[in-house]
Amino acid sequence: MATSIDGYIAKKDGDSDWVSESCFADFQQKISECGGIIVGRRTFEQFQGSLYPVKGVINIVMTNGKSKKVSQENVYFVNTCEEALSIGVDSGLNSILLIGGGTVNGSFLKKGLVDEIFLSVHPLILGDGIRLFEGYENLLNLELIESKDYSGSITQLHYKVNR
Ligand SMILES: NC(=O)c1ccc[n+]([C@@H]2O[C@H](COP(=O)([O-])OP(=O)(O)OC[C@H]3O[C@@H](n4cnc5c(N)ncnc54)[C@H](OP(=O)(O)O)[C@@H]3O)[C@@H](O)[C@H]2O)c1
Repeated sequence: MATSIDGYIAKKDGDSDWVSESCFADFQQKISECGGIIVGRRTFEQFQGSLYPVKGVINIVMTNGKSKKVSQENVYFVNTCEEALSIGVDSGLNSILLIGGGTVNGSFLKKGLVDEIFLSVHPLILGDGIRLFEGYENLLNLELIESKDYSGSITQLHYKVNR
């Protein structure tokens, strides 16, 4: 996830134009390494046709709407986090990239279904917007595995979630 230093991933209107190109390239690399993504319906629709569905990987879209497998290859609409993960397992994936937005991230974190977090901290304060983990209110300890710097004063933090 790309985040501002005050923990927002987009403005309320969905604007995330501030996400750097190097960060975006890394994001695409991670998608192809994992072979599958889980994405919220709002994020999917915002970038449908430009970024999503991502070709060549499994695209799992979370929605409370009617669950269906659409005719489009490799796109699944599901109603629960568990259903999303079982599609990944059935497809033979060892890991799957949860790519937001904030509501979907919060749903998985609440259920203890996040193992690692990649956070690209951008040097800006948004002041308001969509939180990294919407609806999550508990304390959770993380272990820093790695940090690396990108151009443009961006730092990527890689955490393991401790349970
Ligand atoms: N900076 C970044 O790295 C980054 C990455 C990704 C997205 N974003 C931004 O995040 C924003 C969207 O975030 P968001 O929080 O508003 O929306 P979101 O998480 O993309 O999608 C929310 C929708 O997903 C479905 N959903 C979420 N949790 C669910 C659950 N537990 N069970 C079933 N369905 C569930 C619901 O769909 P229904 O309404 O259909 O029921 C919900 O309305 C966009 O502006 C996008 O640009 C930023």
